[in-house]
Amino acid sequence: MSRKIAIFDTTLRDGEQSPGASMNAQEKLDITRQLLRLNVDVIEAGFPVSSPGDFKSVQDIALTCGDQCVVAGLTRAVEHDIDVCAEALEVAARPRIHTGIGVSPEHLRFKFKGMTLDEAIDQGVAAVRHARRFVEDVEFYAEDAGRAPYEDLARMLEAVIKAGATVVNIPDTTGFSVPWEFGQRIRYLMEHVNGIEDVCVSVHCHNDLGMATALSLAGVMNGATQVECTINGLGERAGNTAMEEVVMAIKMHEAELDAHTDINTTEFAHASRLVSSITGINVQPNKAVVGANAFAHSSGIHQDGVIKNRTTYEIIAPEDVGVSGSQIVLTARSGHAALRKRLEDLGYAGIPDDKFEQIHGAFLELADSKKEIYDDDLHSLMGEQDRNENAIYRLDAVQISCGQPLVSTATVTITDEDGEVCTVCEIGSGPIDAMYSAINKIVQAENDLMEYSVNAVTRGIDALGEVTVRIMDRDGSIFIGRGSDRDITVSSGKAYVNALNRMIDQHRHNAQRVESGTDAPAHI
Ligand code: KIV
Ligand code: ZN
Repeated sequence: MSRKIAIFDTTLRDGEQSPGASMNAQEKLDITRQLLRLNVDVIEAGFPVSSPGDFKSVQDIALTCGDQCVVAGLTRAVEHDIDVCAEALEVAARPRIHTGIGVSPEHLRFKFKGMTLDEAIDQGVAAVRHARRFVEDVEFYAEDAGRAPYEDLARMLEAVIKAGATVVNIPDTTGFSVPWEFGQRIRYLMEHVNGIEDVCVSVHCHNDLGMATALSLAGVMNGATQVECTINGLGERAGNTAMEEVVMAIKMHEAELDAHTDINTTEFAHASRLVSSITGINVQPNKAVVGANAFAHSSGIHQDGVIKNRTTYEIIAPEDVGVSGSQIVLTARSGHAALRKRLEDLGYAGIPDDKFEQIHGAFLELADSKKEIYDDDLHSLMGEQDRNENAIYRLDAVQISCGQPLVSTATVTITDEDGEVCTVCEIGSGPIDAMYSAINKIVQAENDLMEYSVNAVTRGIDALGEVTVRIMDRDGSIFIGRGSDRDITVSSGKAYVNALNRMIDQHRHNAQRVESGTDAPAHI
């Protein structure tokens, strides 16, 4: 049997640090359930000291996971962070505190204002000892390990292992490394750090040079037994290692790597769509494993080859990553059972009856006008349901008149979270401008529209139109919103309201942080 590589998912922590990718509590739980279906080994649920919202969310995620996987909370190497994290993880069946401090000359000099390596090691050791008072499983990250001298890194890791760390994380925080050197770094540590053979060695790589997956594999080749990653490679700046890529690469190269994971890879396509739908961050069509073109063959020679035998040009069977070859088409006559079964096959299992009735209603409305409902329509419909749940503002109605030489006019009705209904009419330079002015008049949340794009969900003139918008608030934070409908002006309104809801939610979250008096940053 090959070595088991633990998959540590950080979509809900590092992934959420992507600009515009903030998620509300319900969305985090939806992703948690999907991570459980993927059978990940560890879920990093958040940074509890950063705000009361994050604290509560870590608790909810831990309760949802039960004993199915380890739940980790992030901290700085600071006693108060660790106390708060331990409290949040009290409800976890398998808690892990993930603590750490910088090790590179750049981090010590600038982030830690001239701290010496010895001081950083002492602080790391104290943090691990403190965390071990609460939990048996303590992971230590040596931040910016990718740029640290080998000997400094080895000294820090040896000290924290002696202090009780059960997992040592070697992050390439800045995505600076190249695979051959990163592999050599891991090998050096395996050979020079006393006690390292008794702990789990983890790699956590960023994609600044487009090499996060390759770096993680180099780590695995040289002794790492845990990989930290996110769905769709979401994460700070250029992102983290993409789980679907690293897991499939390990699967395809099990023998050379002497490694396997326990991931249920058939859940990847659904996980990718869910995270994209929740965050509003589109997956590029040519993205490995989960991109729309990952299994498309356009050249005649390639098509001919695949028809003769799939393996001529396809290394992964689409069904192995949950991309179904068959397109089951539902219609208005399909009935409750057929809809429920198709949704289950697409990964939406266990929908409660009352919620299913709402979904069925929306499905019938769509099927009445669109006739044939494809899988992508169902994903889009489910995304719309998720966005409506717990929304602060809901777009109830839109009426637009526009054209040449008319003045574009939009009348919009919105209900707020207290049930108050408001209707406003505005004019604008075009239909979307008029509608967004009307929405602004009701919601009154200052922002700049940075980007607006529209995509057809499926082929055909009657396809659903999915709109994605990016807005920026006064502080320069980005928020993404998405909406889908048969009428793209309605999709546009829904997308904008969704972005505003996210922005307001984040501002409330920030206000809570101020009220709670935390001096911790929102992210590490
Ligand atoms: O990239 C990094 O170093 C991190 C740590 C906090 C683990 O995300
Ligand atoms: Zn990171």
